[in-house]
Amino acid sequence: MSNVDWLAVRAQFPGLTRLVHGKPLVYLDNANTAQKPESVIKAMDRYYREYTANVNRSVHSLSEEATAAFDASRDKVAQLLNSPDRATVIFTRGTTEAINLVAYSWCAKFLKPGDAIVVTQMEHHANIVPWQLACERHGATLKVAPINERGELVLEALYALLTAEVKLLALVHVSNALGTLNPVQQICAQARALGVTTLVDGSQAVPHRRVDVQALGCDFFAFTGHKLYGPTGVGVLWGRRALLEAMPPFLGGGDMIERVSFSGTTYAQLPNKFEAGTPNIAGVIGLGAAVDYVEALGFTAIEEREQQLCAYTLAQLLAVPGLRLLGEAAERAPVFSFVVDGAHAHDLATLLDHEGIAVRSGHHCAHPLMQYFGVAASARASLAFYNTTAEVDALCQGITRARAMLA
Ligand code: ALA
Repeated sequence: MSNVDWLAVRAQFPGLTRLVHGKPLVYLDNANTAQKPESVIKAMDRYYREYTANVNRSVHSLSEEATAAFDASRDKVAQLLNSPDRATVIFTRGTTEAINLVAYSWCAKFLKPGDAIVVTQMEHHANIVPWQLACERHGATLKVAPINERGELVLEALYALLTAEVKLLALVHVSNALGTLNPVQQICAQARALGVTTLVDGSQAVPHRRVDVQALGCDFFAFTGHKLYGPTGVGVLWGRRALLEAMPPFLGGGDMIERVSFSGTTYAQLPNKFEAGTPNIAGVIGLGAAVDYVEALGFTAIEEREQQLCAYTLAQLLAVPGLRLLGEAAERAPVFSFVVDGAHAHDLATLLDHEGIAVRSGHHCAHPLMQYFGVAASARASLAFYNTTAEVDALCQGITRARAMLA
């Protein structure tokens, strides 16, 4: 048992102290974006107040300070992911840009007419649409691996799809809508044995568990900063060096070049080759502070805390009359989508908001998944380590009250 004082941890998140409609905020939309600890806010504030400067370009002191802080964040992310190499950590605007980078650049080099890409039924739009666009560009086909009623991947069916023409498998580590934790290590090993390149969308995994890209055995791993208690507008693409080196640049501009002339341009080494233009410097520094924050708490403690909250929430939600949970995977993160008899998800979320309870409602950027479950929309409660069982009770009571009002 960890001896972390979770109420003291909670107090480090200023956003959690506010009132909404006169009620204490119960923030259960963490899969959408997480609240930020004081240390992240301060790190970004300090950059803007004390050493605002561009990185990698000037020799003056402020620029050197900014570059050192920027580089330190890359080291922190490399350690967080257990990357063997800091240069294979590429900063992007978020997961969406990271996946688009691979879909554009890797596909330009490696995807040929007649090839195929496999995604899964539980992907959100950022891990579907870039591949559809890539398939259109290159004359390739997109195949979809099925899930079952529990919201788990059907592994035999997935493996059966990995035929000779399949060049890449893109799958989510933890589903943003269902909370399902996929056996990514096992899947990547199978894909690798068949010569299929893998991309793992880790946005919903990184906040909840220790991720080790070497142990996972994937070729690319993407995540976003703002779900990891960091700022918006910054994310990471991790990739294997040989692949990143073989890929053409994604965006052209400053910082990604070695030498430019009108007769031809040569490109910078990794990671700069994929980081054109002035990056989100404050965001990268904030992400570094967020990594420091979760590392100081420790993923053992985070996982233990969240698994307790997860079990409690599951039991409480299943006891709410008229509530149907979408997906009941055995291995999961504390993310729960549900529909309630007689209550549209948006109406439910609006009534909950009036009690200060923030949940997401809608399709969760996962239309195909909602279609699989035969619903247009669901409500979703997603927890972080700073949530409490009292907040889960408030949610369940709020749902029951809302259902009575809407019936
Ligand atoms: N931010 C999106 C979510 O809420 C993808 O899951």
